[in-house]
Amino acid sequence: MPSEKPDKRDSKYPWDVRGASADALRGAMSHFPTGVTVVTSGREERAEGMTANAVLSVSLDPLLFLVSVHKDARLNPRIQEEKAFAVNVLADDQEGLSRLFSSPERSSGPRAVHSLGGGYGTVGAPLAAGAIAAIECELETVYAGGDHDLFLGRVVEVRLGDTRKGPLVFHEGRYPTLKADSGPGDSGAFVDSVRGFDARMGRIKDRRRG
Ligand SMILES: Cc1cc2nc3c(=O)[nH]c(=O)nc-3n(C[C@H](O)[C@H](O)[C@H](O)COP(=O)(O)O)c2cc1C
Repeated sequence: MPSEKPDKRDSKYPWDVRGASADALRGAMSHFPTGVTVVTSGREERAEGMTANAVLSVSLDPLLFLVSVHKDARLNPRIQEEKAFAVNVLADDQEGLSRLFSSPERSSGPRAVHSLGGGYGTVGAPLAAGAIAAIECELETVYAGGDHDLFLGRVVEVRLGDTRKGPLVFHEGRYPTLKADSGPGDSGAFVDSVRGFDARMGRIKDRRRG
């Protein structure tokens, strides 16, 4: 029997199939909201910082953390030389820092350290004052990732900052404000009402069977 080759465009869901291009991938990922960090490395004249959202907590045992940095970014050779980096998790009032450290015109060195305002951490990388958290790493391995390098670091220090503040969020090229959540009490009530509905349906089914 001749087997019919499945058409990759044959799907009941109305996908807008875009093929495989940089624009398509960037466009799809723009709908994936992320937090925002400034990754830093180096002291004083050698200090560098760059806005990054391609960051990932990889492993808890051992503690490993990954950042993806473009090969042409100024931060890239600095991490390789210093063999250490810090990931500053930005708060919702730090959009200015995100914009500054994603601008090619930004300063390096002491001016960058001054803009971040938090001095240096355990691994000697600049910290951002007012951040929600900072994760400091010693470089373990560098993996090739196309036009980026993937820096896998061993976590040597975790700092919490002002965790009462909300996170800075990046979505569709903008920094939207998160809506206040409904609170654990409300979600509990929702779960209870779903359970109640299930229980009522169960009783109705039992009566029909009986
Ligand atoms: C929200 C946001 C997230 C970003 N994430 C990354 C990232 O994870 N890796 C990266 O290499 N560049 C990322 N960028 C781009 C860099 O911050 C930007 O291109 C920077 O200018 C690169 O450094 P350079 O000026 O030294 O080339 C991001 C930019 C923004 C606005």
